Amino acid sequence: MAFLADTLSRVKPSATIAVSQKARELKAQGRDVIGLGAGEPDFDTPDNIKEAAIAAIKRGETKYTPVSGIPELREAISRKSKRENGLDYTPAQTIVGTGGKQILFNALMATLNAGDEVIIPAPYWVSYPEMVAICGGTPVFVETTLANDFKLTAEDLERAITPKSKWIIFNSPSNPSGAAYSESELKAITDVLMRHEHLWILTDDMYEHLVYGDFTFTTPAQIEPALYDRTLTMNGVSKAYAMTGWRIGYAGGPLNLIKAMDMIQGQQTSGACSVAQWAAVEALNGPQDFIPRNKEIFQHRRDLVVSMLNQANGLTCPTPEGAFYVYPSCAGLIGKTAPSGNVIRTDEDFVTELLETEGVAVVHGSAFGLGPNFRISYATSDAALEEACTRIQRFCGNCK
Ligand SMILES: Cc1ncc(COP(=O)(O)O)c(C=O)c1O
Repeated sequence: MAFLADTLSRVKPSATIAVSQKARELKAQGRDVIGLGAGEPDFDTPDNIKEAAIAAIKRGETKYTPVSGIPELREAISRKSKRENGLDYTPAQTIVGTGGKQILFNALMATLNAGDEVIIPAPYWVSYPEMVAICGGTPVFVETTLANDFKLTAEDLERAITPKSKWIIFNSPSNPSGAAYSESELKAITDVLMRHEHLWILTDDMYEHLVYGDFTFTTPAQIEPALYDRTLTMNGVSKAYAMTGWRIGYAGGPLNLIKAMDMIQGQQTSGACSVAQWAAVEALNGPQDFIPRNKEIFQHRRDLVVSMLNQANGLTCPTPEGAFYVYPSCAGLIGKTAPSGNVIRTDEDFVTELLETEGVAVVHGSAFGLGPNFRISYATSDAALEEACTRIQRFCGNCK
């Protein structure tokens, strides 16, 4: 009898973590490495949020909390959903988890049976297919194209839906492409979803606040209120408030689904960290001026990176609407010979050669289900980004 569960044979380790690990190893060997692999803001958590956590510790908020979260945070989520998204979720219809990751996982765990299909547009966040597989479901990928700015078309979505489809995981702005759906683009998608009443929508709105220029964020149940009864709207404080380490995510949705997720969580981790929950109350209820300030910084970096990458031989980089990622195509370099003498056959070869030759760590697109591309996280300083893009330009120029 095998000791490890069969499930593990269906699960891959995270490529984004592997890249960060490789970059750390090279740095430890004394190499000058610029890491553009990490998916977290380089800013510190705002002081008012830290102060709220310190005050919570001093008040003795150090005990177990209710599984679905402290009432104050569920109330804050309910108000935030109304204020920013026009969605009515009572506090009882909300749940707080240990990061957005746990929310997604518990939603899938609470609903998937063997053979249930989950539609995942590609490129996708690395954890979606693995979570679906762990929970016994079958991921069904729908590839998008660079020509369509990595956005799902209504026709492709329609073709992917079968009687076994249980969920679609919808992520806008997207990790890894940064693509965000405008109101009319989202309407085309929700029109298809309206015709398939058995299909539920798991919308991952984690990057909601990171959209640039005059782009307006919208979420499926807001665009099509008739989808409200079969939508789980997931969000969190990790990216918008630079709180990745605090591990607070949340969702609003139909009561029976929230109760099922509560049951799973109750046997798993129970309530999220009490102190972090109080910090999240302040994040959602407190001053929001941090968000526009950071958006401006991110937008400037996005423009810098897109412009420099488009000047590199063989790269094509669309300008995404949001998140802090770009997803350039390296199709123009496939088949060429890198300075090391190795032929670049895949996007994984491209990122490996780039790291070895120029010390720039990025993540290959095949890890996100669509290539030949690579993902750059621009959540780092202008100086590091300029230097990294200069090295990428030199690397591409030296590929023959
Ligand atoms: C698209 C997306 N969803 C969810 C998460 C998970 O967020 P958290 O750190 O709150 O678990 C991430 C984190 O990288 C993400 O990129």
